[in-house]
Amino acid sequence: MPTVRGKTIEVMYSASAIARRNLELAREIGEGDHEDLLVISVLKGSFIFAADLIRAMHDVGLEPEVEFIMLSTYGKGTTAGQVKLVRDVDSDVKGRDILLIDDILESGRTLTYARDLFIERGAKSVSVAVLLDKRVKRDQQTPIDAEYVGFECPDHFVVGYGMDVAHAFRELPFVGIVKGDA
Ligand code: IMP
Ligand code: MG
Repeated sequence: MPTVRGKTIEVMYSASAIARRNLELAREIGEGDHEDLLVISVLKGSFIFAADLIRAMHDVGLEPEVEFIMLSTYGKGTTAGQVKLVRDVDSDVKGRDILLIDDILESGRTLTYARDLFIERGAKSVSVAVLLDKRVKRDQQTPIDAEYVGFECPDHFVVGYGMDVAHAFRELPFVGIVKGDA
């Protein structure tokens, strides 16, 4: 097992498994019914996944525009969490087919906020791509599903490939679980 910051990391999804899956996701996205595709990467956690997925999209012949939004979600768990818009997109989304890209779909609060925001602004369609779906964490109160899911993820806290604990571990080329001291 790799050691990072003095901790042992158990690899859950290797760099090569993620790369293979990204190409499959890009093909699935290519089969979707979108004309004027605007990809919106939800920062910060999705930055590596989005960077790889949009290049896989290019490889299958797609030509999206790419934008960024920064959201932060407070109050995890069962209490009603607040989503804060930290940085908005610059583009007018009216009439556009939007593909939101995020790292993890957990309670669904973050992506419900983003989806509703762009629907309110007149997007023609909003679909969602996530690397990991922690479906077990979702209840009936936030009935959001992602159209494109890299992997169904068990209920573990994961790091790497953009995902962090207090801004650490984002640089890992794989997704893993932090175990004890090495
Ligand atoms: P939701 O609003 O509950 O769906 O939360 C999703 C967001 O929580 C993701 O975009 C991540 O930023 C963060 N998150 C959820 N689970 C994890 C994890 O296991 N590791 C790192 N970040 C996580
Ligand atoms: Mg996030």
